[in-house]
Formats: sequence, C-alpha cells, structure tokens
Amino acid sequence: MSAPVTVPGLDQAPTAHPKLLAWVREVAELTRPDRVVWCDGSEGEWRRITDELVDKQVLVRLRQKPNSFWARTDPSDVARVEERTFICSADEADAGPTNNWMAPAEMKRVMTELYDGSMRGRTMYVVPFCMGPLTAEQPMFGVELTDSPYVVASMRIMTRMGADVLDRMGADATFVPCLHSVGAPLAPGQDDVAWPCSDTKYISHFPDSREIWSYGSGYGGNSLLGKKCFSLRIASVMGRDEGWLAEHMLILKLTGPSGQVKYVAAAFPSACGKTNLAMLEPTIPGWKVETLGDDIAWMRFGDDGRLYAVNPEFGLFGVAPGTDWKTNPNAMRTLAKGNSLFTNVAMTDDGDIWWEGMGEPPAHLTDWKGRDWTPSSDEPSSHPNSRFCTPIEQCPILADEYADPRGVPIDAILFGGRRKTTIPLVTEARDWTHGVYLGATLSSETTAAAAGKVGVVRRDPMAMLPFIGYNAGDYFAHWIGMGKGYAGDPGKLPQIFYVNWFRRGDDGRFLWPGFGENARVLKWVVERIEGTAAAVETPIGRVPAPGSLDVEGLDLTAEDLALALRVDADEWRAEIPQVVEWFERFGDKLPSVLWAELDGLKARLDAA
Ligand code: GDP
Ligand code: PGA
Ligand code: MN
Ligand code: MN
Repeated sequence: MSAPVTVPGLDQAPTAHPKLLAWVREVAELTRPDRVVWCDGSEGEWRRITDELVDKQVLVRLRQKPNSFWARTDPSDVARVEERTFICSADEADAGPTNNWMAPAEMKRVMTELYDGSMRGRTMYVVPFCMGPLTAEQPMFGVELTDSPYVVASMRIMTRMGADVLDRMGADATFVPCLHSVGAPLAPGQDDVAWPCSDTKYISHFPDSREIWSYGSGYGGNSLLGKKCFSLRIASVMGRDEGWLAEHMLILKLTGPSGQVKYVAAAFPSACGKTNLAMLEPTIPGWKVETLGDDIAWMRFGDDGRLYAVNPEFGLFGVAPGTDWKTNPNAMRTLAKGNSLFTNVAMTDDGDIWWEGMGEPPAHLTDWKGRDWTPSSDEPSSHPNSRFCTPIEQCPILADEYADPRGVPIDAILFGGRRKTTIPLVTEARDWTHGVYLGATLSSETTAAAAGKVGVVRRDPMAMLPFIGYNAGDYFAHWIGMGKGYAGDPGKLPQIFYVNWFRRGDDGRFLWPGFGENARVLKWVVERIEGTAAAVETPIGRVPAPGSLDVEGLDLTAEDLALALRVDADEWRAEIPQVVEWFERFGDKLPSVLWAELDGLKARLDAA
C-alpha cells in the first residue's frame, strides 16, 4: 500500500466538512500541486495574490486606478469556447440538440487523465463561494479548486467568497464541486509563462451529479466556474427540477416621474447590451434606473404569485470596448473606484487603461498583446472581448434590494438580440405563450464573446443557447409551464417584450441611438403595463402606435424612427423557413403550442 500523499497546506483546512475534505484530498492526490491554499477572501489574501502576480508580470499594477490591475491572456485564450463545452448527462437526449455531449463516465476518464499531475509546480487554491446572498434561506454554495491565482482574484470580485462561506457551510451543506486547472504543469525548475493554458480544453458539466470540470483555459467564462457553469448551466437544471428559472438576464429597477417602481429583467446574448442597459442613465426627465444585476437572474415565484429575481453574482464582468462616459457613465464611475481587474484592454503610458470607444486615442499605448500601439496601427488596441471585472457594490446606482435574498418582483421581461434587419426596436408579446415563442426564436449575430466567427445570425433562445444545461425542447416546455403561474394563477406574470437596439439603415449606421436613449423604450414598456400607451397590432406582435414612443428632444429623423419600428412582412416571411428548421431540431420535445404560434404568425403574415 502506498503512503498517503503529503501536500503542504492540505491538512490546514479551516473546515470540518467531511465531503469537502475528502474531495480536496482526492483532487490534490490526482493533480499533484506543490501546495494547497485554503482561501479566506481577506484583504491580506488579495494583496498577497495580486503582489505575487505583479512580481511574476502576470498583472501590471495600474498607476491611475487604485488597487487595479492590467492582465493579458495568451492570444488564443480570449473567449468562451462553445465547441469545447459539454453537458454530460447520463442520457444523451437530456443534453438535447444544442449542446455537445459525452457520457459522464467517458468524460471523467478522459479528463482524469488530463488532470493527472496537471497542477505540478503550482499552488492549488480552495475557493469556497456562494452564489446569491449568504443570508438566503438556502444559500447556493460552490467550491472551486483552481491552480490559477488570476481565477482566485477574479472569483473574489465576482462571488461572495472566503471564510464566511466556509463557516456558513458548516459540516454538511451541499455544494457544487467545481474543478479547474489551466492544464500547464511545471517541471522542476521550469519557467512559467505569463498566461498558462492548454491547447486541449474541456468545459464539462455533469448535471446529474451537479459537478463542473474545466480544463485548459484561464479565460473568465471558462474558468470562473460560479458564473456561466454553475449559475446558468447547472442552475438551469436545478430550476427545471425545482420549478424555477436560471436566466441570462440583467435586472434593473425603474422609477417613473410619479414615483411608480417597476422591475425589469432582460435577456440579450453575450455582448448585446445587458451591462449597458442595467446601468443606464435615462435621457428623459423624471426617470431613474437602478442596477440589480447585469448578466444572470434566478427567478422563482413568491407566495404572492409574482416572479422574483435575484442576481447571484457579486461583481460585473463587462465588455470593455464601447464603455465610455457617454455610453455608460455608471460603469466608468464604478471602475474609477478601483479594486478591478482589466483583461486584454490596452494600457496608457501613464498606467491607465484604454480601449476602443473611449474617445480620442492617446498617441501611444501598449496593446493587449503587449506591443507598441499608435492610432495608425492596423489592429484595435484592445481585444473586442476584453473585459473589466469590478465589484458590483461600487456601482453608484446599485439598488438597495440587491442584497435582499428574496429578490425583486419582475414586471417585464425583455428579450433582445443584435440584428441589422427585420426586428423592430420594440414589440410587445400578446401573452405569455407568444412571449415564450419570441424568446424561443430569438436570433442574434454572433459576437466576440465566444470563439468563432463574428456576425453570423443564429437562433439563441432566450439568449441561453450556450448556457441551457439540458434539452432546449424541455427548456421551452419549462418556460411554457411557468406560464401557468404560481398555484395556477397566471395573472401576476411579467409582461414580455422583444427589443432590438441594433437595426441599421442601408448605409450601415444604427437607426436608433441606443444607450441612455433606451430609457424611451423602457418608458413605453411601463406605459404598456400600466395601460396608458397606445400600440398597433402587427403580425409579429404589438409595436408603438405613432406618437406613443417618447422621442421628445431626440435627434432622430422621422424616417429613421419609422425604419427602426418598421414591420416588413417580406422580411418576416423570409424568417419562417429558418424558424421551421430550428423548431424541427427539437422533434417531439418542442411544445406544440410553439408550432401553433408559428402557424398563427404565418396566417397573419399571409393576411398582411
Ligand atoms: P452584454 O455583454 O450583453 O452585457 O453587453 P454590453 O452592455 O457589454 O454591450 C456590448 C457591446 O454593445 C458594447 O460594445 C456596447 O458599447 C454595445 N452596446 C450596448 N448597448 C448598446 C446600444 O443600445 N446601442 C448600440 N449601438 N450599442 C450598444
Ligand atoms: P456578457 O457575459 O453576457 O456580459 O457578454 C459574458 C458572456 O456571456 O460570455
Ligand atoms: Mn453573459
Ligand atoms: Mn455584460
């Protein structure tokens, strides 16, 4: 019999949780790190880790922003890798036609081989975290084991992390085990690179046992396992089983001139405007937006029959390019407070960050690949999916309700995507089922948030295509089922709308100014809910009646407004075969009411 492995730190566990202890030991014995560090989430720990990363030139300390750092990844490790993301349900049918699948035992065999010795020469950090407030009745715990100190620093911003979590977990709390390795072991004496990662990547989910195994990437969406992996893919399965929804949605609080409060959740695909809308500064007088979340919403019915949303995250992981004092001043104010990580943006000569969209470029920058950059350079200074990672509590317009574990009752759900043509600025669904149809057929041009081609139109149901942890046909059925409401009372469901900020004119420019001006669309949404704004019926749903959308003081021609709102029957007829093809992928799993919605649309278009 071989002696038990001794790894420094392994036995200094500040917990008596037997399952956690056994799992950490098991992983350490497999991956062979030089030492184990149990993270406490303290200020001192943050300082130790960031100092060490600065010493190793993984991070550069920014001179112009307090306690903030600049990171550059390997140029190959810059986005989520959907091709390498797997849902390993026992039954392949449970992964459905939209996910990659491998049998759990087979995936575990393949990945165990990869993990064997994969942390040699590195430290394995134990990161206890909680998604959503620790004060929740049933806090949602996870523990990430990672050999990336960059991941530890990022997790401290993005989740509630550390000693409080371990304490609250006690000795028997359920947690989601999240295993992460960059897949770059070091031989004795071997020099490390600034951004270790592997050409072999797996982002694997085991929905039946509620486990996550990630290998080979250090990029946020692939490595901060509390975010997409837990809070969307695994949580969506929990929601299916327990009657709630885990969605790719921002949450905002909107207060109107008469003091009326509405809570809005909105699902847009990655890099299609969630963070911006969540922090919007309205251009119309009397309206106020406060932020609750910018990426993920967990929604369940309250006893009063309303649908309540909680943001499980603790930070903002936002697209950097395009973020500016003009477009998103609240993000700029949040970042000015410091305590942030910036990844794959450019750095100015005086030690600040810069990216495309931030006004006039300085004469000289260091670009995201570490090269000299001037305004005459051929490539952008920042990667299009470069990100800021910053504490949400620094957001100056954070709503008080953010910390409430019960969440906020949602009045309106917006679906939206990035489409140059066809989709009008705003459409109101006729009812819940029609709204689910709009979500299920949501389409958007691909962005740099995922590896692969940019600008290709694809169906992205509820903006969840890369994040549904089970069969998308079952997911649609779950959404339809939620339409029965709480205890059979559908009367208090949110009203559903569909928006498109990205429609373009023939000359390629955006027809709608977007950003703060999107408050005008929110106003129309509120007035529809309150029954005070007029709408016209069209084959695809209700759009603003002439004059009902507040465009006072807006620099927009009547022609452009009409084009932004236009419902063109020919463009919509051209969508039908694509929707048929999309729906056919789900076979028997597709709820028949969605086919009925499509038939209704066809009939209305024929009559148009
Ligand atoms: P998220 O990834 O869904 O959170 O999207 P972001 O809010 O980070 O926005 C992604 C990109 O779209 C950024 O470059 C934004 O500047 C841009 N964007 C966001 N909202 C609008 C808008 O209303 N109009 C236009 N034209 N661009 C927008
Ligand atoms: P985003 O979040 O939606 O803000 O882009 C990251 C992602 O979805 O990859
Ligand atoms: Mn996202
Ligand atoms: Mn975002």
